Amino acid sequence: MSSLLQDLQEKIAQVLEKINTELEEVKNSADLEEIKNKYLSKKGVFTSFMQNLANASSEEKPALGKIVNEAKNKVVEKVNAQREKFAASALNAKLAAEKIDITLPSRHSFSGSLHPITLTSRRIENWFSKLGFVVRQGPEIEDDFHNFTALNIPPKHPARAMQDTFYFDADTVLRTQTSGTQIHVLEEEPLPLRMIAPGRVYRSDSDQTHSPMFHQCEGLVVDERTTFADLKGILTAFLRDFFERDDLRVRLRPSFFPFTEPSAEVDIGFADKNAADHEIKWLEVLGCGMVHPNVLRNVGIDADKYQGYAFGMGIERLAMLRYGISDLRMFFENDLRFLSRFSAQY
Ligand code: FA5
Ligand code: MG
Repeated sequence: MSSLLQDLQEKIAQVLEKINTELEEVKNSADLEEIKNKYLSKKGVFTSFMQNLANASSEEKPALGKIVNEAKNKVVEKVNAQREKFAASALNAKLAAEKIDITLPSRHSFSGSLHPITLTSRRIENWFSKLGFVVRQGPEIEDDFHNFTALNIPPKHPARAMQDTFYFDADTVLRTQTSGTQIHVLEEEPLPLRMIAPGRVYRSDSDQTHSPMFHQCEGLVVDERTTFADLKGILTAFLRDFFERDDLRVRLRPSFFPFTEPSAEVDIGFADKNAADHEIKWLEVLGCGMVHPNVLRNVGIDADKYQGYAFGMGIERLAMLRYGISDLRMFFENDLRFLSRFSAQY
């Protein structure tokens, strides 16, 4: 080995040892850049090694140059490795500083709520479903047959004027009651049958207790042995459960509907705290009765074999009483202060 080569290798070994020590001890990236400039720049030690090779013979030059370059590359690698280490720890420090505590409760937690009419409908559906009633929906745009004629309300019958009807044309109306769904279901489904049908109905009517669009829930049972006592029993049980009061007073008052006979309206009683002797105040919540045989005949059912009972309740009316709402129009104004009251209710 030539003395020049040996000499160079020794010098490089010394320089590398020194650089390695400095690189291992470097504390931050600014110092690292300084070390890099000191050794790897044009004025650095590797450049001067190269310059010294000018004295070497042309046979030796390539091997010597290679040694210098390899040593320089080792330093470059080490500098890069250290740089990455500093970058990684800087990133970790930044992430730690910006850490989010996801267990903290959020500041804004109102997440919307169900409309009180929806809550009330579901309450009714759940209760009757448990007794084996199916839930059905009829069309809101109804023909004369389903809304009137099949329900024993023939043309020119005064009951057609009882409900102020929105007509599209002589044969097409916005349904004035969910009772038309009785007819649809009787046309389509086998007997015996127990169903409820909640939905929107429309009447040309508007004040504090009447709205041109409101909701009813129809109920219908048709079987070979149904009685008025069944009807009274099921409605009383439902109302006591709905209002969560075992001692709720329920009263059936004779009434008239063309599609039921006998017919009744159902009132619930409240002790009126303002009255002198705590007199009971009665409020109508629904209409009901035994299905008129003509209704069954109109859809081809043997009225001697089958009877049934039906009822129709006002969903707004039930919701107002349950939640203590005094003005029906509150349901349709979409005032968030009103709606958010129901976020935790069922
Ligand atoms: C009927 O609509 C009958 N179809 C009910 C029925 C069904 C009887 C099956 C027999 C057998 P009525 O018009 O009374 O009946 O309405 C029933 C309920 O709907 C009322 O008790 C009341 O709670 C509610 N209601 C009636 N009109 C309005 C209105 N404009 N706004 C809000 N609720 C109303
Ligand atoms: Mg009525």
